[in-house]
Amino acid sequence: MTTQSTTTPTEHDQWWRDAVVYQVYPRSFADSDGDGMGDLPGVTARLPYLRDLGVDAIWLSPFYTSPQHDGGYDVADYTDVDPRFGSLADADTLIARAHELGLRVVVDLVPNHSSSEHVLFQQALAAAPGSPERDLYVFREGRGEHGELPPNNWTSIFHGPAWTRVTEADGTPGQWYLHIFDTSQPDWNWDNPAVHEMFRGVLRFWLDRGADGFRVDVAHGMVKPEGLPDATVNAEGLIDIPEGEVPVYFDNDGVLDIYREWRPIVDSYAGDRMMVLEAWIPEHRLPLYIGPEEAHQSFNFGFLQARWGVPTMRAAIEKPLALADAVGAPTTWVLSNHDVIRHATRYGFPPEHRFGEGLSREEVPDTELGRRRARAATLLMLALPGSAYLYQGEELGLPEVADIPDELREDPSHHRAGVPGRDGCRVPLPWEKDAPAYGFSPTGASWLPQPAVFAELAADVQAGDPNSTLEMYRLALRLRGELGLGRHVEGVEFPDGLPEGVLAVRRGSVWVLVNTGDAAVELPAPLAAATLLVASGPGVARGVLPADTAVWLRTA
Ligand code: GLC
Ligand code: MG
Repeated sequence: MTTQSTTTPTEHDQWWRDAVVYQVYPRSFADSDGDGMGDLPGVTARLPYLRDLGVDAIWLSPFYTSPQHDGGYDVADYTDVDPRFGSLADADTLIARAHELGLRVVVDLVPNHSSSEHVLFQQALAAAPGSPERDLYVFREGRGEHGELPPNNWTSIFHGPAWTRVTEADGTPGQWYLHIFDTSQPDWNWDNPAVHEMFRGVLRFWLDRGADGFRVDVAHGMVKPEGLPDATVNAEGLIDIPEGEVPVYFDNDGVLDIYREWRPIVDSYAGDRMMVLEAWIPEHRLPLYIGPEEAHQSFNFGFLQARWGVPTMRAAIEKPLALADAVGAPTTWVLSNHDVIRHATRYGFPPEHRFGEGLSREEVPDTELGRRRARAATLLMLALPGSAYLYQGEELGLPEVADIPDELREDPSHHRAGVPGRDGCRVPLPWEKDAPAYGFSPTGASWLPQPAVFAELAADVQAGDPNSTLEMYRLALRLRGELGLGRHVEGVEFPDGLPEGVLAVRRGSVWVLVNTGDAAVELPAPLAAATLLVASGPGVARGVLPADTAVWLRTA
């Protein structure tokens, strides 16, 4: 059962405005060749599942040539496919098959940095200080008498200095290069026109191959403040970032010019291509990045970060809607991705628990509470106007996996910073309860071990079970399409007069109610008589909304 349209892409009108986009993390989605690593043919084979789920598009995390020091976000060749994932022909097949099924394909673009194995970085290392080769990246002389100190005090997002010193051709210690992330991810020099030219070519390469858009990685990076000034430090000598702000090397105005340069290219292609930005920036800065001349949309991470409760969640809806409205762009909603603790687990902790850096074995969530609240939050999200981004496996209610042996963890932040790291949300998906590797791989191989709990959460166990998380997603996605909830038509109201702890969002005749309190509540008369469209959990009866549960109701 699906409401997916089979019309060709050009017949849609700005499909991305209300699209549901499903993030595929290729390493962990489906493995076709049995090497334990997901791949593009694996994705292609499972596309009908995504069509049946009812999503409009997929976003593929990087599948480009890469040594995989940061799960592929360290790109060695932007216009080729890593042999682990297949070939360019496999990418073409995937895009063509997706289009046949009425699914759009958004690819990841990583413009802040490349891999240190990129041929241009290798050439920069081999070339002399001051050479045009070096100028493609950010090389500087060190400070101190012999250049033995980093050029400034910036620290990497993955901890430790953001600079690494190279050895020059004559064997002496030489210049330093900037890497905001891992040492294997040197930052491009966006002051150099050659870098601009190269990326315009990368955009065209994928647009020519039929990509419907780009998810832009670290979209608030790229342009660094002039002179690379030191960041201010606090008493402990750590970079001081006031609440709600970002480090000096992010969110510099110059980055907006890059989107103004790219927008006409993207818009020059038929069929409504788009850009969605991964910009972790203060909320008030968001409108600068989106609009008719900049990017089409940007992730709104405030909803993901909002603490469970009426005022916090309401604010996380109202504010981005108002901000996006002001620039005529739709907002986006997201609860999980490959960088944060899966929301089925996150909600099993007290609201102040962090959302990033993964989960350690010692941090034990309330699994049942997490599952209930996650399903309720999802129903809330899917009723909001704008586009919604889902992360693979959330439709199965997968938990974050804490029990991964340290030696198998791959996230560079685990090794550099000693935090648990993000591998726990990247464990290969369970498709079939009784198959090897739960159907992820024909040989039973899996690059990260899958926990036993994945058996009961496998897609084939949940399919057809009306109480399953998978069927809740399918029903909600179908209704979202039928009722046009992703569109702005009827606006969003927050009616008063509900019992305490209940967040109410009204979309015309459809009411979304979330009981954030810890006891069941009775609903007032008109709502008690309304038709139940979908519920996030058991125990919903006429006029009764259990704790940690959401419903969509329709009034006459
Ligand atoms: C983005 C990606 C993340 C990656 C980082 C560096 O935040 O989502 O996975 O580690 O960029 O590329
Ligand atoms: Mg494989």
